[in-house]
Amino acid sequence: GNAGNAGNGADIGVIGGSGFYSFLEDVTEVEVTTPYGSPSDSLFFGELAGRRVVFLPRHGRGHHLPPHRINYRANLWALRSAGVRQVLGPCAVGGLRPEYGPGTLLVPDQLVDRTKARTQTFFDGEPLPDGTVPNVVHTSFADPYCPDGRKVALAAAHGRGWEAVDGGTMVVIEGPRFSTRAESQWHAAMGWSVVGMTGHPEALLARELGLCYTSMALVTDLDAGAETGDGVSHTEVLRVFGENVGRLREVLFDAVAALPETESRSCLCTRVHDGWDLGIELP
Ligand code: ADE
Repeated sequence: GNAGNAGNGADIGVIGGSGFYSFLEDVTEVEVTTPYGSPSDSLFFGELAGRRVVFLPRHGRGHHLPPHRINYRANLWALRSAGVRQVLGPCAVGGLRPEYGPGTLLVPDQLVDRTKARTQTFFDGEPLPDGTVPNVVHTSFADPYCPDGRKVALAAAHGRGWEAVDGGTMVVIEGPRFSTRAESQWHAAMGWSVVGMTGHPEALLARELGLCYTSMALVTDLDAGAETGDGVSHTEVLRVFGENVGRLREVLFDAVAALPETESRSCLCTRVHDGWDLGIELP
């Protein structure tokens, strides 16, 4: 089906990371397609604190999609078409400083793109799905995350007694392998805070569609450059994410409830295209 008529639509989207395959219990599952192909999974529509929410497991149910095979464009397009205007994006990351150990929650304010082979724009010189042929588009991305969403996420974490780290830089590597020790030491020496594989182009594609996007990075391990051990294993990442997914879900509940009403947002996330509005059909 078309994402545009999914359920009653939703204002808020949550894209779950490794080990995060369901969000709300009472959901309507809707299988959708987009002009960019299929998203990672069905969309799961539900309601929380009077807010209409849709959940999308980033890696698909059962975690079958590696980070470099995720169809980020289809994911963001599907959410936008379902009415979503604000996105919360939890993800698993490695810590690049000894003090950012497993269980740390960090709400980054900056991003470094070290991916290599991902389609990272809707503005590819082709007509958009609605037939619009935009001029060349260079999206402003100096501040990649929604300032209001970040505040809400931090307050929600603090409210649950989780002293989340306010700000920091997430470096996104291509994966699916983890970093070498030299790469990791370099990332740390640059002053970057955490390393992940999915934060880009997710945040950029959200910005291109005028969506508010907030990253919530859960540290599952100390990356190779921040420790003297054997480096990271995928088993460890999944184990620690699993240990923390309960309280992460609670923080997300509170964050969803506290996000500003979509119509009354004061951030500039929607105003990326100099007044030119993407002509995507809304439900
Ligand atoms: N995701 C979780 N831990 C990671 C790490 N150490 N490097 C890259 N991505 C990760």
